Amino acid sequence: MAIPSLFNGPTTAEQWPARRRQLLDMLAANIYGRTPAIELDQALPFTLLHLNLEDGLAYECHRVFFRKGEAYCSMRFEIFYRPLDTPQPAILMIDVFDSSSANFVEPGLCERCHERLGYKQVTDAGYAAVFIHANDVCNDCPRTFTRGIMEIAPREGPDGWGAIGAWAWAVSRVVDVLWEDPRFDNARLAVIGVSRAGKTALWCGAQDERLAAVISCVSGCGGAALLRGKTGEHIRDMSSQFPHWTCPTYATYADHEEDLPVDQHMLLAMCAPRPLYVSDAIEDTWCDPRKSFEATQMASEVWRLLGREGLVGDEFPPVDTPLLQGDVGYHVRTGGHGLLPYDWECYLTFLKKYFG
Ligand code: GCU
Repeated sequence: MAIPSLFNGPTTAEQWPARRRQLLDMLAANIYGRTPAIELDQALPFTLLHLNLEDGLAYECHRVFFRKGEAYCSMRFEIFYRPLDTPQPAILMIDVFDSSSANFVEPGLCERCHERLGYKQVTDAGYAAVFIHANDVCNDCPRTFTRGIMEIAPREGPDGWGAIGAWAWAVSRVVDVLWEDPRFDNARLAVIGVSRAGKTALWCGAQDERLAAVISCVSGCGGAALLRGKTGEHIRDMSSQFPHWTCPTYATYADHEEDLPVDQHMLLAMCAPRPLYVSDAIEDTWCDPRKSFEATQMASEVWRLLGREGLVGDEFPPVDTPLLQGDVGYHVRTGGHGLLPYDWECYLTFLKKYFG
């Protein structure tokens, strides 16, 4: 199956921004839905808790309220950081798996965070670790996803937005808050997500160019993996089990991937020329690591067009052999679906080149 081209014929670096806008619109119209321009009456952040943890680490929990007319919703985000005198880089972690309505993580529960985010590894490397509970504004459920932000901006029509779009929107609202906070360095904000949140990290990074680096872990179908020729999960699986993630049009391509005018290398290309890292796990056949690798290879053409390096590596790498040299990084590690300390080691080594 021929993969659609990134370019409309010969394209120069100067012509890329126009082509980029076109592709972004096609990705929205066919996969993720169009993100509505929401004019809120209020987006109000509150600090709920500030704690000093062990080893000079600080913890904060915030809640942002979003209101338009009578409709409102709110979302938690949490920050682990070491107080510094200079603005520090931050890694924004999209978490859509925490369905507790707790206002904050109790200190005793920090181990759980460690499992989910590895905040110690991140803060030890000199970054603030920001957890974003994006599902607070959009439930990860086909029946109830319309609550929350979709009461303010409902999904409408075949290209109406879905949960991935809403979660990506929510991350950008945290970027708004951090942007105004002198403790964080606006030029050094990275976004990361795992699995469904990995798909979200890519869609968020595609739309919000304030994010200086994008990391996607085991994102698979609807994430980094090319749809054409893919094994494991496909559009039919994703749109029948999770119809709320994407726009309604996406499901119409089930078993007709060849008709989709886009493929996932275009999503990855939206990050160029910013650093992008994609990773997989070898036993995660549902994701199909080889198809993510191929997508990173294909998307790299855009980095090269823009005078950057793209992925350096011609062959699918052996397990646990990260390709860290170019502006697009990739690894496939031993084991199955999920985020492990090994993944963080690779991401942090890669990010260091850019964030110091
Ligand atoms: C399911 C789904 C995947 C998704 C994963 C996850 O396996 O089919 O598309 O990435 O859940 O989010 O853990």
